[in-house]
Amino acid sequence: MARILITSALPYINGIKHLGNLVGSQLPADLYARYCRARGHEVMFICATDEHGTPAELAAAKADRPVAEYCAEMHETQAALARGFGLSFDHFGRSSSMRNQALTQHLAVKLYDAGLIEEVREKQVYSPGDGRFLPDRYIEGTCPNCGYERARGDQCEECTKQLDPTDLINPRSAISGATDLEVRETRHLYLRQSKLRDRLDRWIDSQKGWPVLTTSIAKKWLHDGDGLQDRGITRDLDWGVPVQFDGAPWSGMEGKVFYVWFDAPIEYIAATAEWADALGHDEAAWRRWWRTDEGADDVRYVQFMGKDNVPFHTLSFPATLMGSAEPWKLVDYIKSFNYLNYDGGQFSTSQGRGVFMDQALEILPADYWRWWLLSHAPENSDSEFTWENFQTSVNKDLADVLGNFVSRVTKFCRSKFGEVVPEGGEWGARETQLIEDLTQGLDSYQTVMDGMMVRRSAQDLRALWVLGNEYLQEAAPWASFKTAPETAAMQIRLALNLIRLYAIISQPFIPDASARMMQALGCDDWAWPGAAGDALQALPPGHAFTVPDVLFAKITDEQREAWQAQFSGQRGG
Ligand code: 2FM
Ligand code: ZN
Repeated sequence: MARILITSALPYINGIKHLGNLVGSQLPADLYARYCRARGHEVMFICATDEHGTPAELAAAKADRPVAEYCAEMHETQAALARGFGLSFDHFGRSSSMRNQALTQHLAVKLYDAGLIEEVREKQVYSPGDGRFLPDRYIEGTCPNCGYERARGDQCEECTKQLDPTDLINPRSAISGATDLEVRETRHLYLRQSKLRDRLDRWIDSQKGWPVLTTSIAKKWLHDGDGLQDRGITRDLDWGVPVQFDGAPWSGMEGKVFYVWFDAPIEYIAATAEWADALGHDEAAWRRWWRTDEGADDVRYVQFMGKDNVPFHTLSFPATLMGSAEPWKLVDYIKSFNYLNYDGGQFSTSQGRGVFMDQALEILPADYWRWWLLSHAPENSDSEFTWENFQTSVNKDLADVLGNFVSRVTKFCRSKFGEVVPEGGEWGARETQLIEDLTQGLDSYQTVMDGMMVRRSAQDLRALWVLGNEYLQEAAPWASFKTAPETAAMQIRLALNLIRLYAIISQPFIPDASARMMQALGCDDWAWPGAAGDALQALPPGHAFTVPDVLFAKITDEQREAWQAQFSGQRGG
């Protein structure tokens, strides 16, 4: 039994996430967490909302709400959706927690003590009317390139040109519309990441077996043009972790907060402390996951994220932890994903394009989405959601293969032998062959699940379901019942036990359906199968069961067309 720490990239607080976000980190992380627990490992699975920075402030302003209230409410919304999708976090924290504030400030001091933080003076746009410095995206004006009148200080959304605030014609504050903007001097703390380049380089080289996508992105950032530059870790904003605090080794930093990408990954640690607080555990309870001097050297730490997050997790966050000169646990394996596209284009939060988590659960139960998303995870390249593909996959894999097996076996048994596992005779050659095939299939499934190969795992699982269907088709207990009822009874005993085995091994993918299968079987023994032959003896003759309701309903062409139309435009409000 191992100890496995699993974190999913933290979803931004600014709105409900779409299915592309979900499959890019939280869902595959959940698959792995569920699998590791099922194999008997001790798991700590952490996620949280990423609540600071300009996007949070802007979203709150748009909703006309104080930012703290907006974040509290949106956190609850995201937490409820996570539960709806069966995401089995041990804790779903908040980067705005006091735990994160304290730890972020602590690590900044440690970095300062190590000579890795320096003060830098720079010029920035100030709005006297708003009484604050304006981040680039808070400044609007006319695009010098295309004339669009609402271009932002960082980019024109119309012609996509990257801009500097000073490029804008007639610049104004996006907050108040004020035009009396000035350029003023301000001071910021910079993290001298460049000093850590060699250590990071050696550390990345020592990571055997990281996916190429992960390592190549990290190496590119370490060695290319803008390489590992020193970067500002503070901002002139109100909402965030304050830079000036009691005991800070710097002064005059009032009104500034840490940059959101500085405090967000620290929340992985802080959220584990929040977990301990919520359960009334002591400090040691969370520190044994994160401090190598307090037990975490035994921990295997795996992170899940989209590819755009890789530089922050291979370089910036490790730089923070290494640079602190404290014994923090560093990541052992980074599983990164490409993007999921939506029906010929991109999912887009700002344009409300695609299916969002709340909408998905309104039209179908979580397992349908979990199965499709995981079996089509954008692992080695981008992948695409289409309604046709979704319909086909649900109807074939879930309804025809798994659902049909469960339904046929339990109904046939009820009609011929009653709602108990029948006895029947000994296994014959066909059963021995099936067990051999299951053993091989299980072996392969475990290997790819251990390796976090998400699509391959779904394929292997489906292949295991297919074995049961083929067996049933060949054994044909409905035929053997007429001439050799003992044989039919034995076949059905095996098939009922196979339903239990399917429930256990499918649980990481489709937890609700698995629970319903187990419930129908009147069984609560979720022990992962050792030898397939033994696992198929778990339900003894005479064990009572019930016929479950339809596990997966097929998606009709009418439904598919209606949803396609419903989700073809922009999401309202
Ligand atoms: O890209 C994103 O959605 C970020 N909110 C991920 C943060 S991950 C971690 F570092 F907090
Ligand atoms: Zn433009």
